[in-house]
Amino acid sequence: MRAGGDAPVTVAHLTAPTDHRAQMIEDVRHGLTAYRKHLASKYFYDARGSELFDEITRLPEYYLTSAETEILAERADSIMAEVQPDELIELGSGSSDKTRMLIESMQRNSSGRRYVPLDISEEALRSAALRLCDDYTWLEVEGLVGDYVPDLGKIRRRGRRLIVFLGSTIGNYVPTLRHSLLRSVAAALEPGDAFLLGLDLVKDEETMIAAYDDSPGVSAEFNKNILHVINRELGGDIPVDAFEHVTRFDRELSCMSQSLRASRDVVANIRALDLAVTFVAGEEIHTEVSCKFSRIQVEREFDAAGMRLTHWYTDNGDRFAVAIGSLQTPP
Ligand SMILES: C[S@@+](CC[C@H](N)C(=O)[O-])C[C@H]1O[C@@H](n2cnc3c(N)ncnc32)[C@H](O)[C@@H]1O
Repeated sequence: MRAGGDAPVTVAHLTAPTDHRAQMIEDVRHGLTAYRKHLASKYFYDARGSELFDEITRLPEYYLTSAETEILAERADSIMAEVQPDELIELGSGSSDKTRMLIESMQRNSSGRRYVPLDISEEALRSAALRLCDDYTWLEVEGLVGDYVPDLGKIRRRGRRLIVFLGSTIGNYVPTLRHSLLRSVAAALEPGDAFLLGLDLVKDEETMIAAYDDSPGVSAEFNKNILHVINRELGGDIPVDAFEHVTRFDRELSCMSQSLRASRDVVANIRALDLAVTFVAGEEIHTEVSCKFSRIQVEREFDAAGMRLTHWYTDNGDRFAVAIGSLQTPP
């Protein structure tokens, strides 16, 4: 594929679409037959889910994006000057909007020209890749459609790496899964590479709840989109309007927790699973956690995964942090 610019854009699948569907069938069956029903947040993101997420990032209540933007705008040049990456690999890249600050800084620092966005949403990935290619004719964009949990290790190395994971997406993983994900990141690094991680920080509950329960109802629509995805992809007839968006702060896990609560008794059929699922009024399907962090916790989690925290930058309001890590050096 070639857009208006000179450099090529390629978009390849790391996971075959049939494998993705088989995994989805297994995950949804497991989640909807569990004692406490749950669905994996990666299934929010079809084309509509990605659009809704972008809409959320533009809401004034969703402070995460503006706070992370503030940090990257101030720090991108010094980070790029220090790491001097040949390639920028981004996990869960979405619109790649904030990444533009890093890409532009990569050019100012005359380091690499290769950008590898990896996302589960093919539509979001393709449109972002084309826009980038139009705007940065010098940039080589190698888009990868896949799941960064099993697929990160499949990315071909082309020199010194900066792996980027923005938007506090790491917070969508509970501690044990986060540990495995951070270990996969460490396994994809070599000495001299770096990892840049965006993290939402613990703060007052009111501010956090407003970010996940905005008054125009975009977060609610985003949450319910997971049911539309299941209905379409797996031949389901879940009545989406019978579910309401619920968000609360879980102090024990230090995370916002999102779920969908049945407002009445429901029986739904999912053809691809050959399954009838029942919900009693008030029952919830857990859909997402958005964990919140502190510096000490990130230091510990990097350390447990074989990395060390080298830099910690926050916005002026101390709402959000960008952490830089690298491999631990042997003693
Ligand atoms: C919270 S959004 C963040 C988007 C963007 N990085 C930002 O900071 O605005 C999460 C992104 O990760 C992608 N995603 C979610 N789970 C994924 C997975 N398991 N593998 C790959 N991409 C995933 C979604 O499609 C979405 O683009």
